[in-house]
Amino acid sequence: MTRPTVYIETYGCQMNVSDTELMLGKLTASGYDAVDGPDGADVILVNTCAIRDHAEQRVIGRLGELKRHMSPTAVMGVTGCMAQRLGPVLLQRTPHVSIVIGPDGYRALPTLIDDARHGIRTTATSFDMEEHYEDFKPRRFDKVKAWIPVQRGCDYRCTYCIVPYTRGPERSRTLADVVRETESVVADGMSEVVLLGQTVNSYSDGTYDFADLLRAVGGVAGIRRVRFTSPHPNDFSDRVIEAIAATPTVCEHVHLPMQSGSSRTLKRMLRRYTREGYFECAERLRAAVPNLALTTDIIVGFPGETDEDFAETLSAVREVGFDDAYTFKFSMRDGTPATRLPVELLVSDEVASDRLAQLIAVVREGSRARNMAHLGSRCEVLIEKEARRGGLLQARTRDFKTVIMPGTPDMIGNYVEVALTGTTGSTFTGAVVRSREPLPMQ
Ligand code: 5AD
Ligand code: SF4
Repeated sequence: MTRPTVYIETYGCQMNVSDTELMLGKLTASGYDAVDGPDGADVILVNTCAIRDHAEQRVIGRLGELKRHMSPTAVMGVTGCMAQRLGPVLLQRTPHVSIVIGPDGYRALPTLIDDARHGIRTTATSFDMEEHYEDFKPRRFDKVKAWIPVQRGCDYRCTYCIVPYTRGPERSRTLADVVRETESVVADGMSEVVLLGQTVNSYSDGTYDFADLLRAVGGVAGIRRVRFTSPHPNDFSDRVIEAIAATPTVCEHVHLPMQSGSSRTLKRMLRRYTREGYFECAERLRAAVPNLALTTDIIVGFPGETDEDFAETLSAVREVGFDDAYTFKFSMRDGTPATRLPVELLVSDEVASDRLAQLIAVVREGSRARNMAHLGSRCEVLIEKEARRGGLLQARTRDFKTVIMPGTPDMIGNYVEVALTGTTGSTFTGAVVRSREPLPMQ
């Protein structure tokens, strides 16, 4: 008998990408073959994001589209944050969906798929504080860098954010388990890991903290690059910063979500730091790690954000000097504390759009200036994949800049030294100066 096939489509953050890898690992171990598209697949899963309304609307649209690709016997499931948030409502609204599973329920996937085949429709949205899927062997998409979840859930309660409700309370894997997984990705030929957690630097397994974890993972033989995302400014203890500085494999880049440059807005967001507190954190990191690149997340149009507050965000972006920023218009999520703010504080969509455009312009101006200063320098890049433009490769510097360079696909996974020859303002073009890999015998 041929093996049944499964197709998973992923939305949202790297944690979702990592969860999809775990689900595919579980399902391939349970007798399924993974396929690249929905047509003809026996099982179609959509791993969803709930962070902004826009993300959910896209999924709703996509579920309708995917229905047209379903064979009469196929089973469709919705997993991830939107599944957790909407639960049984999703089953009611989308009759062609038979399984709704939140982020802690993936162990039951094979059973629930079998049930669905027999016409049983299920919602599984309990949180499980013990669940880290330790025995799942992830089926990774990326052949060059490995996403490694080290923590699930979140104990902060930023007032705009749905994540604590979709991913539950914070819990960490043990350091030994993370190190074991790191060793196994090295054995699979990878040399870069990205440690994932909602507030990754608050990692604690009861014995070891994030500083210990960075040193342990960074010291695994064969690891050349360690990254992590996303940290919370308040969890950068001196110990953690020292570990970043003292571990040569930890890359010179920190993604440090700021959210706003106005202390008033930060207070209403319950971010638990002020504008000055954020600056201080950025300075401590920069003092410890020379040439550190900083990127961030910023929300505009949070309820109560005045023109003055927004001006403070713009000035903070200039003052910190970010290498790049992900910028978002505030999206009200049901069930978050922000829904209880007085309605008269709401910022109109028009104003929010205008602020977003201004912010993007200031971010671009800053990153262009920083990138221009790198022109002509040489650095080590890891070649990640073929670039979208024909015949070129896409590589990354340790400080997370994208470099487009000539080369052949067999160079993917190699480290080479490049000269940065040009920049569009956001990405670089580069030329190989020296191959860092031992050259093959002639
Ligand atoms: N509206 C807009 N952006 C949001 N983010 C989180 N919740 C919301 C929301 N309700 C942004 C934050 C976070 C990033 C992952 O998404 O900036 O850091
Ligand atoms: Fe990831 Fe948050 Fe979106 Fe969930 S809601 S997929 S945790 S970004």
